[in-house]
Formats: sequence, structure tokens, C-alpha cells
Amino acid sequence: MDTNQVRTMPRIGEPAPEFTAVTTQGTINFPSDYKGKWKILFSHPADFTPVCTSEFMTFGNMAQEFEDLNCQLVGISVDGLHSHIAWLRTIHEKIDWKGMKNVEIKFPLVVDITMNVANLYGMIQPGESSTSAVRAVFFVDPEDKIRTIMYYPLSLGRNFDEIKRVLIGLQTVDNFGVALPADWRPGDEVIVPPAGSCGVAKERMEGADNLHCYDWFFCTKQISKEEVESKLGK
Ligand code: BEZ
Repeated sequence: MDTNQVRTMPRIGEPAPEFTAVTTQGTINFPSDYKGKWKILFSHPADFTPVCTSEFMTFGNMAQEFEDLNCQLVGISVDGLHSHIAWLRTIHEKIDWKGMKNVEIKFPLVVDITMNVANLYGMIQPGESSTSAVRAVFFVDPEDKIRTIMYYPLSLGRNFDEIKRVLIGLQTVDNFGVALPADWRPGDEVIVPPAGSCGVAKERMEGADNLHCYDWFFCTKQISKEEVESKLGK
């Protein structure tokens, strides 16, 4: 690699880089076409490969769950439009895996033969592969800001339950002004106030009902699963 080459990597808290691209659902402008929605932009190394096929079937099977969370899925790889269309048709018509079959992918799959988008989002990581994207996942909020980034290697399929948990977690953080502890799931205790403003929690230690302080810097409260779920997708 050219050591003088500037490698840009998008970062959490920054606006999602803009691009216009041809997809299996027509041309899109990302992220502006989806303003007001959550977005998950995810890359895969190549069409017609087994790990990617298992991932697309899983995501396609869960697509309604993400739609219910007001989240637009957008896939991307460095393959061409005809490859994308043929691969998605094969998945739909032929692949029966883990009880999933007839899986129809209705979300856009970006054509990125030039690798413009993959480079823009730091998805080409030459130590892993210089000819295909790694498995990246970008969570972009309704204001088009990047909120979480995941990168996985070529050989390891992602955990889609974790991807959904992260989306629900981010929406809960925003809706309730809290932070979330390790392995949090809706209905578990949440951390108040958000990490970084511990003094506020200390002041609240006395007298606040519904608050449990393990120490001055670590206070939690309960938000029921129903209350969390009532705000999701907002
Ligand atoms: C796969 O999806 O199976 C795969 C793709 C690229 C490299 C290795 C595995």
C-alpha cells in the first residue's frame, strides 16, 4: 500500500458520508433519502458466497422487525447490478437454510464496482482484502449521524440479534436520556444519568425512589419492557 495515501474512516458522532448509487431498488441518495428514519448500511464481501448468503437470508427474514423499528436497511458490495439481481433471485428461489426459504430481499443492495462507497466508509481494509469489502455495519440515526460502527472479518458471519439489540439500545438511549449496561435488554435496569455526569447521580442518591445506587458513580433505575417498547421506532 502507498504509505502516503490518506485513509479516511468515518467516525461515531460524525455525519454519515453522502453518496448517490445505483441499487437493486433504483438509484438512492444515502442518507438523505431516509431522513427521519434510522438507517443500517452494511457491507458484504461478495455475492454468491456462503457466509454472505446466510447473512442476507437472516436479515431478509428479519426485515419487518427492522421496519417496525423505523429502520431502513441498505446493503452494499463491490459486485455489479446483474450479479446482485441473480444472487438475490437464487436466494429467493432456491436456498432453504435453517428453516428460512423463499426469502425476498426488498431493501436496496448498492452496486459499488468502483469501490467509491466502500472506500468512503472505510470498508476496504487491505490487510483482510483489497478487492472486497469487510463486513461493516453503520448505524445512522434520523438526523443522519453515525451512532455505532461494527467491522467483522470475511470469515465470520454477524450476529443479527446483536444488530437489532444495538438499534433498540440506541433508540432507548435517545428516548429516555439514559445509558445502558453490559448485555442490556428491554426491561433490564438502565443507568442514570448518562455516563460522564456522575455528580448528578450522587445528588440524587438520597430520596429518589426508583433509583438504585451501587456506589456514587453507578446508579440505575428500572424502565419496564413495555415502556421501552412503547417508544421504539420513534
Ligand atoms: C463468504 O461469504 O462465504 C465469504 C466471502 C468472502 C471470503 C470468505 C467467505
